[in-house]
Amino acid sequence: MAHVGTSALDVFPLSLGGNTFGWTSDAPESMAVLDAFVAGGGNFVDSADVYSVWKPGNVGGESERILGDWMRTRGNRADVVVATKVSKLSPFTGLSAASISGGAEASLKRLGTDYIDLYYAHADDPATPIAESVAAFNDLVVAGKVRHLGLSNYSGARIREWMAEADAQGVARPVALQPHYNLVFRHEYESALMVTVLEFGLGVVPYYGLASGFLTGKYRSVTDAASDAARSGGVADYLTPEGFGVIAVLDEIAATHNVTVASIALAWLRSRPGVVAPIASARVIEQLPALLASATLELTVAEIALLDAASATFSE
Ligand SMILES: NC(=O)c1ccc[n+]([C@@H]2O[C@H](COP(=O)([O-])OP(=O)(O)OC[C@H]3O[C@@H](n4cnc5c(N)ncnc54)[C@H](OP(=O)(O)O)[C@@H]3O)[C@@H](O)[C@H]2O)c1
Repeated sequence: MAHVGTSALDVFPLSLGGNTFGWTSDAPESMAVLDAFVAGGGNFVDSADVYSVWKPGNVGGESERILGDWMRTRGNRADVVVATKVSKLSPFTGLSAASISGGAEASLKRLGTDYIDLYYAHADDPATPIAESVAAFNDLVVAGKVRHLGLSNYSGARIREWMAEADAQGVARPVALQPHYNLVFRHEYESALMVTVLEFGLGVVPYYGLASGFLTGKYRSVTDAASDAARSGGVADYLTPEGFGVIAVLDEIAATHNVTVASIALAWLRSRPGVVAPIASARVIEQLPALLASATLELTVAEIALLDAASATFSE
């Protein structure tokens, strides 16, 4: 288990992504994945109010509702660390005080709980004064509706502004950052965010840990990806000689450890400075063992160096 930044949140070092709930997994499949996740030692689940509004026929809130129904029927709310996010689902878009309080109430209702363990600003909102957002999130903490705060998709400069404003108001700082980060998407985190994260002791919970499935090694050609309607857009950028070069090194290291490529990709991510728990999702239970195995897999210094070198082009 690992602590999220300076908080007392004790989490399994692999967070289960919840954007598949109600998207590529229906409710029974999602609940089966959640059951298998906790049976394998997991406790940290990542959702957002907006998941999964992009599926035709959905309205948003499907992921939180499935997660809430699952916790209610299993009676395990106290054992699960629930992370969710606000700012992208109408009418609670942006980070005004009204969006934050309204969005939180709607999420609590769907989740069927009276508190959220980790509540993220899903994306920066430059149109709202940061002082207003900081105060509104703190109101939720003071009311006991949220235990800890996080930021997602923030720049280093805006994290710094948020911290200064929290200090000026004398309120709790965010404890977590959720950036886009994986072996084939390194530059944003490594060039600008990592230094800020380490300065403020933020716990990093990177998303797209598997690059939408590319880092499982299941797409070996453009044709493989084209046949997967839900995921083809997400992996298209990586179907290049550089991307396949990373897969080749993952293949070699996976064979040495007798595990899957996905486990190695997630173990590499967990080894990076600041990272507490990579997020990855599983559409069906058969995909989950590879994710769980990553949490206890330690790569050697030489293996990490090989992966760093193979993916160097993605760090620039
Ligand atoms: N903060 C943000 O802005 C933000 C943005 C995006 C995502 N997120 C979070 O990050 C999570 C992860 O994102 P994601 O699900 O899009 O991407 P991901 O974790 O990089 O990829 C997961 C997908 O890869 C495939 N997969 C997983 N394990 C596999 C295995 N063992 N073998 C073969 N395929 C496997 C599955 O998709 P298929 O079976 O469909 O191929 C699975 O849904 C989300 O659920 C969400 O919680 C946050």
